[in-house]
Amino acid sequence: MVQGTRPPMNTPPYLTRFELTGKVALVTGSGRGLGLEIARALAGAGAHVLLNGRNEAALHEAADSIGAAGGAASCLPFDVSDAAGVRESFARIESEHGRLDVLVQNVGQRNRKPLADFTDEEIRGLLEVDLVAGLVLARESARLMLPRGEGRLIAVTSVAGQIARAGDAVYTAAKAGLAGMVRALAAEYGPHNITSNGIAPGFFATETNAAIVGDPEKGRYFAERTPMRRWGRPEEIAGAAVFLASPAASYVNGHIITVDGGATILM
Ligand SMILES: NC(=O)c1ccc[n+]([C@@H]2O[C@H](COP(=O)([O-])OP(=O)(O)OC[C@H]3O[C@@H](n4cnc5c(N)ncnc54)[C@H](OP(=O)(O)O)[C@@H]3O)[C@@H](O)[C@H]2O)c1
Repeated sequence: MVQGTRPPMNTPPYLTRFELTGKVALVTGSGRGLGLEIARALAGAGAHVLLNGRNEAALHEAADSIGAAGGAASCLPFDVSDAAGVRESFARIESEHGRLDVLVQNVGQRNRKPLADFTDEEIRGLLEVDLVAGLVLARESARLMLPRGEGRLIAVTSVAGQIARAGDAVYTAAKAGLAGMVRALAAEYGPHNITSNGIAPGFFATETNAAIVGDPEKGRYFAERTPMRRWGRPEEIAGAAVFLASPAASYVNGHIITVDGGATILM
């Protein structure tokens, strides 16, 4: 029989299996939107969260709000598509924290328009941010995780990695690519006790989506094609991230948790 790690029923209570005390987690794109909610939740579960984005003022504001709520957060501004910035930032994580336990790759830019209207540069630029950066960040994170023999790689994909709409080909291709990366890295790093999983959000009422949510026709369309008949509230993404980062998910590897109110199960 495989040696068990089952905790006793009452002491400590099972909730401790969701605790992240002592862990260091980098959440990219966490100055606002779903990334900020994920960062807040990881900090609430006890992790020290490294907040990333390009807008330093937004990161400081986010770090202050997490600190005021009793969590630990610091700012790590860099552009995920800037190789030098990524290198310097991971060197900083190593020197300041000596470890990285969790990577949540949450940055994802979108440019909705027909493929015919994209220039080559626009296609390559979007893929750099939404897909190539994902591979680079996972590689750099694994470099810090491998010597410690544990780690969690979590990629925020999208229901657009599973289903499609016209006018969104580059984003959809990138998200489907990330989903493939999640599975490939689960196979590659699984033997080293580093898991790789994804979270696929459905339709969330973030600031970025405010115009669509507020549009009487489009806002209603997306709500009504979801069994729960509403848009997701940004904070509803965070439970999946805490779970995947936590000891409770120690044997979950290579999967994508879809958080979409049921939108992708409808015929
Ligand atoms: N909202 C939804 O309904 C939905 C649905 C499916 C999937 N998703 C996915 O969920 C993730 C988060 O979505 P969201 O709606 O919360 O996005 P958002 O509101 O647009 O936030 C994106 C964050 O990423 C940062 N960012 C953008 N480009 C960056 C770069 N090159 N380097 C570093 N940071 C960068 C932004 O900050 P700065 O501008 O300051 O850099 C911002 O904090 C994305 O991957 C998105 O594709 C969202």
